[in-house]
Amino acid sequence: MANRHFGEIGDVWKHLALSEILSIELPDHYWESHAGSADYLLTHSPPRDYGVYYFMTHCTLSPDLAESQYYLSLFKLFNRDEILYPGSPYIAMSILRKINASFIFCDLDQESLDSIELWAKDFQIPNSLLSLKKQDGINIIMEETQRVDVQPGNVFVFIDPYDPFQRNSHQNSSVELFYHCALKGLKAVLWYGFESLSIHQHFVNSMEKILHPIENLFTKNTVRRMEIIPEVITLGKFDHSGSYIGSGMMCCNLSSQCYAACKEKGMALAKIYREAILPDNRSGALRLNIQSITTEKNCVL
Ligand SMILES: C[S@@+](CC[C@H](N)C(=O)[O-])C[C@H]1O[C@@H](n2cnc3c(N)ncnc32)[C@H](O)[C@@H]1O
Repeated sequence: MANRHFGEIGDVWKHLALSEILSIELPDHYWESHAGSADYLLTHSPPRDYGVYYFMTHCTLSPDLAESQYYLSLFKLFNRDEILYPGSPYIAMSILRKINASFIFCDLDQESLDSIELWAKDFQIPNSLLSLKKQDGINIIMEETQRVDVQPGNVFVFIDPYDPFQRNSHQNSSVELFYHCALKGLKAVLWYGFESLSIHQHFVNSMEKILHPIENLFTKNTVRRMEIIPEVITLGKFDHSGSYIGSGMMCCNLSSQCYAACKEKGMALAKIYREAILPDNRSGALRLNIQSITTEKNCVL
């Protein structure tokens, strides 16, 4: 298991939104560049207590969250002898197996790929629809986008690296993979985390510089970022225990229905976190921020 940040607040927002997006878009092909494990053995830690454990104890206060696909996945894996946390491959397979979608999962970690294979068997996904690649995910997905046998609009690409700007051996980064998908008309989501407003600003500026050349190709609001920003990071430095605390997703070519559903769930999430407390006893309240990348006009606060 390579991913140490499972079940933290960044995962809660990421997986809540991802579950909604996949249930609405129902893509025939799901390609993931940095897959991680299908499941994680769940234990308490301060970031997970503020993340998935807080979510599980408070989400029933909100019908929007209690009826979410994400809660359904959590509920299934919480009610076992061993409590597990679902990674994105679990979420994708549990939703898309019903429509016989095909899957490509990339990760450099064999243990993570093994866990995906096990759950794929459990979900009765045939081998012909599952491809597991122990290779650099950016290269693999870049290559897949050249395929002529798939309709770009039927593909969903999920890009979830530790560092979106890190370049691989071909000098490509995750941000460039996202840019490439956006241009080709694929549905794509790139996740990013930040622990201060200056890091957030740096990320946004760099992203916009890269996306700027294709700005004119997009209709208004085609590329959006959807973020949860903890109030506390607007107040300066705090101990985040090495975990990302603010997080966002850069999204392209998704339907307006998707954005509406994510807005609804994001607002419900912010509502249940109003009274949350961080491990250092400061307020854990969150703000939802959805912005169009092309117009830079605030859509939701
Ligand atoms: C943030 S975790 C993924 C979490 C997962 N997507 C989820 O939401 O549950 C990042 C993963 O990327 C993998 N990784 C790191 N470098 C990679 C690369 N160049 N290509 C593919 N996977 C990579 C790590 O092994 C790790 O499992």
